[in-house]
This record gives sequence, C-alpha cells and structure tokens, in this order.
Amino acid sequence: MSGIITNDSVYQTDALIAEDIDAYLDVHQHKTMLRFITCGSVDDGKSTLIGRLLYDSKMIFEDQLAALEADSKRVGTQGQEIDFALLVDGLAAEREQGITIDVAYRFFATEKRKFIVADTPGHEQYTRNMVTGASTADLAVILIDARKGILTQTRRHSYLAHLIGIRNIVLAVNKMDLVDYDQAVFDKIVADYTEFANSIGITAFTPMPISGFKGDNITGPSENTPWYTGPALIEHLETVEVNSAVDADKPFRMPVQWVNRPNLDFRGFSGLIATGTVKPGDAIRVLPSGKTSTVSRIVTMDGDLDQAVAGQSVTLCFADEIDCSRGDVIALADNPPQAADQFEATIVWMADEEMLPSRSYWLKIGTQMVTATIQQPKYQVNVNTMEHLAAKTLDLNAIGVANLSTDKQIVFEPYAQNRTLGGFILIDKISNATVAAGMLHFSLRRAQNVHWQATDVSREFHAGLKNQKPAVLWFTGLSGAGKSTIANLVEKKLARMNRHTFLLDGDNVRHGLNKDLGFTDADRVENIRRVGEVAKLMTDAGLIVITAFISPFRSERDMVRQMMQPGEFIEVHIDTPLADAEARDVKGLYKKARSGELKNFTGIDSPYETPLDPEIRVDTVAMTAEEAADAIVARLIP
Ligand code: ADX
Repeated sequence: MSGIITNDSVYQTDALIAEDIDAYLDVHQHKTMLRFITCGSVDDGKSTLIGRLLYDSKMIFEDQLAALEADSKRVGTQGQEIDFALLVDGLAAEREQGITIDVAYRFFATEKRKFIVADTPGHEQYTRNMVTGASTADLAVILIDARKGILTQTRRHSYLAHLIGIRNIVLAVNKMDLVDYDQAVFDKIVADYTEFANSIGITAFTPMPISGFKGDNITGPSENTPWYTGPALIEHLETVEVNSAVDADKPFRMPVQWVNRPNLDFRGFSGLIATGTVKPGDAIRVLPSGKTSTVSRIVTMDGDLDQAVAGQSVTLCFADEIDCSRGDVIALADNPPQAADQFEATIVWMADEEMLPSRSYWLKIGTQMVTATIQQPKYQVNVNTMEHLAAKTLDLNAIGVANLSTDKQIVFEPYAQNRTLGGFILIDKISNATVAAGMLHFSLRRAQNVHWQATDVSREFHAGLKNQKPAVLWFTGLSGAGKSTIANLVEKKLARMNRHTFLLDGDNVRHGLNKDLGFTDADRVENIRRVGEVAKLMTDAGLIVITAFISPFRSERDMVRQMMQPGEFIEVHIDTPLADAEARDVKGLYKKARSGELKNFTGIDSPYETPLDPEIRVDTVAMTAEEAADAIVARLIP
C-alpha cells in the first residue's frame, strides 16, 4: 500500500533520526509542504480528527509539543508516547481556552510531506479568521457529522473556501462508526453535497467516509468500509498537488520586494516568484512601465540557478540597466499582466468599524501599496444562503462585491488566476489595522477608456495671472464653533488685499452639490471627498480656497491634505469646547440633539476627531473672531 504510513515506516524515520540527523534533516527539508484548513465545529469531531492526524503521523514538531504540554500539562513528554485521548483533550482545551478568535496553526509531517493545518473556529462570527487561515491553504477538509448531514455551516465553509480560491476540497464524512459504516448514509450526503457544490461553482471534491475517533480511513483503508475504494485521508493529503506545483505552470510573474545594489557592479531585483518559471536568457518586461530586458543571472544564497520556479525567493539580474523598483512586477515579456486603477472586487470586511465608501484606505497587493477608495457595495452575500442582499456598507464579517479605485495603476491579475496578484488587503490609514481582505475580479473597462487630458493653460499660469500662490485654508471644528464666522472674516480681509479667494461653507454646499447627503459617517466621508475635489480644482484655477466644514474625521482631512501640493493645505482647528458651542447653540441644533429629535449630531452621538497637528489652532475662548482672522491671514501672507 503505497503512500500509507505504517508503524514500520515511522520506526524507520525514528531510526534515521537516531543514526544520521543530517541525512534526516536533509530529507525533511526537501519534502513539499501542504497547507490545509479544517472546517467544522468541535461537535463534528474536528479536534479528534486533528488529534488523529497528529497522532498517526507520530511526528509532531517540537514547538507544537511544547505548546500542547504547556497548555494541558497532561500530555506525555515524547511525541511517540502521547496518549491519543489526552492529545485530543489537550487540543479541545486549547481551542476552548479562548483562542477561538485566532487561527491555530499546527505542524506535523509524514515520510512524504510536511503539513501545516490551520484550525479555525467554525462560527459565523469568525468568518474573518477562516478567511485568514484559508488564504494560504492548498486544501480544505470540510468535516461533516454523518448523523447530521449537510448543515448551514457546511455551506458557509464551502462557500468561503471556494471564494478564497481553494480548489482541493475533501468532504470528510466523519463519525461513520456511529452510523454503522452504512454506505447509504454516505452516498446520500455525497449526493446532497454535490448538488450544493455545483450551485456555487465547486466542480470537484473528494468525499471520504472516516472516523477520526476510531481511525477509519485516516492512514489506510478501513476494514469497516469495504465499499469505499478511494484514498485514505493522509494518503490523499500526501499526494494531492500543492499550489506551488500548479502555480509553476502559469506564466512567470515576480513582484519586486527590494532592489539589491550592494555596489556599483551589482544590481539585482529580489522577490518571491508568484507564478511560472524563469531561466537566464528569458525575455522579461517590468510593469507597469513596460520596459523590457533579458534575465542575465538568477542569484540565490546558494549560488546561481539555471532555473527558478514559483515559490522560490531569488534575485534576478538583467542584461540592461532598466528602471525597476519595489512594487513593480517582473513578468514574461510576451505575456504580461495588465495594469489598471479601477476594479470590481469581492471584499471580506474584518474590522469592528464598518466600511466607509469614499474613505481612502491603504491597499496592499503583492509588494505594491497604493491608496484605494471603495464605492457603495453592489450587493452583500448572505454567507449561509448565498443570497445577494442590498447593502450601503459592510460590517464585520460581511462579504460584498463593490467597485474600487486606486490612486495609481496597479499590476494585477484576477484572483481566480493568481492569488498573489489578485488578492489584497485594506489597511486603515490612521490605526494601521488590517480592515479587509479582497479579491480582484477584473478591471473596469472605463478605466482603460478615460485618460488624463493635458491642457495648455497650467495651474502655474492661472496662479501667475492672479499674482498669488494657491492655498487651502481648511477650517475644522464642532458645529457652532465659529468656523463660518471666522472664515467669512478671513475672506473679507484677503479680498481687501486683492487676493482671489473662494469660500466653501458646509451649510451652503449642502444646499446644492451635496444636497443628497445626510449626516451618517458614510455621508460625511463623501461630503468631504467632494469638497476636497472641488477645492483641488479651485487651487488649480489659482484660488485661495477657504472651507468651513465640521469634517469630523482625521482620515478625510488627511486625504484632502494628500490631494494638494506640498505646503498648500493649511488645517485650521477652530477649537471651541463642546460645552461652549452648546451653550451658544446659535441654530438651536444642540437642543434638538439632546432631546433626541436630531440624530447623529457631532459631539453628541457622532464623533469629532480633534486634529493632532493642525497648522493653526484658534482658541475661541481666548480670542475674538476678529483677532483669530488676523492671525490666520498673517500666517498665510506673512
Ligand atoms: S460634516 O460633518 O459633513 O463636515 P458639514 O460641515 O457639512 O458637516 O455640515 C454641518 C452643518 O450642518 C452644521 O453646522 C449644522 O448647521 C448642520 N447639521 C444638521 N444636522 C447635523 C448633524 N447631525 N451633525 C452636525 N451638523 C448638522
């Protein structure tokens, strides 16, 4: 029986370790690695199954063992001595002891392969954890309790595994011992699953009748299921094709991690090959620039290579001196990926704070990092029924499809073809937390058809005609802080000095351009995005722009700052304590907000994020509006 771990082969491994540790390590190092994920709940026998795999492979890595020991204090000291029941208890205890929010990675190995199994919690509120665990997996084991059949969570886990691009799915029908190894039960579950799988695009899967508890069809064929002729679980895990083998057959792509230039004689580009193979002499193209050259050398720590494949980290040297830097992608010259800046994507939201359409997030894809904004989702997917639902935003664990745009072209491929060049994460610019994972579907055709049109009368010319330097005085502060009053005084003073100005005031803009927006977080973000764009056009026209908006979020104020030329954006914090603004209550809005008549009011039930480092801070308690306006003008025109 090839591919099955017998006690003999385990013994031989032990003997090899004892006799020749170097030879053992060498064999071990060159084994392929399979990463897989187990989906199911503790009730389905997940801990028992994982325990069974670790136990039967008898080669639990040392650190894994140490962690288990520390945790349960009951597990034996030697891998070989572990009692199966105690091991399973230890795993279950570890799971229960509150690491439910994390992905537990466990390592083991057999004669043929090394394995990393990502054990993720099964409940819906841990969708993000499952996505994290699955994102690097080659295979998913979907665990089913033979007595219960297909459940909602089976559908959810299968959908997520497929979504994240796992193409090897094992349907492990567990607890067969509890249904008397009845083939009819197994066949019914397989038929039910086939119907569901087809409906979500899963075209192939490997069903297996097993018992994690009794060990049936785990390492070898079970006498209890003579009607089953397929592989045992470990046998299948040992032989199934890993992603890196599949990726090796795709066209060559390598995102550049860094440029290696220790001295003037050497210039190489280092990275991890995402797909394909490369050889010296291959014609390559650097993207997005499109510059071409030929590979002259493939350099590694262990010397030059004749060929390198997907999954290897290498340094490539070119025959020509062409521009290439971190974030670029090196690809086959005659079959390169595209670059674009607008896409449709699936987004898995992973943060407690909801997604805000129009907010800018960092988008990291391969080694590229750009700014991205997401539009309102086209729909959200109910992960239990796969129904499409209307959505304005995405909450924690929500999965939706939306268009997004980036501030620079990114080199990409659809996720279904290339996980590295199609998979991305979104990062909050203020907290630096990862807020979402995503998968690019395709670029929007309009991205290719809309080009920047060069015009002859430049922004410098516009400003020169007006004899001034454009600027944006960005007022921010609570409602009733005095923004409009001071902004109005500033504009009058500047006008008297023959400056060309324009004042954009929140209440006024909300009568026209932004008439469609209210005061939810999402609408405020969009409000500021539009005002930022208008202010930018006005600076291009050479104007000094004054804006008076609450603009409560740092993120959007920073976004507008980034849109302007360096030094052009002047943040003016009109700093009035809430108590004072409320005491004045010029428009009577605080009173309404306090009585509950007005919802989402800034400072009451909607946040205001105080500027951390504004160019100007005006203390309206210590200064009159007139004095404040003079100080601001003096700062702008010294
Ligand atoms: S922002 O938050 O999106 O920047 P903006 O400055 O445009 O707000 O509008 C604020 C003005 O709208 C306030 O000065 C106030 O007159 C009015 N307003 C009406 N409802 C609210 C609310 N819920 N929160 C804050 N301001 C409101």
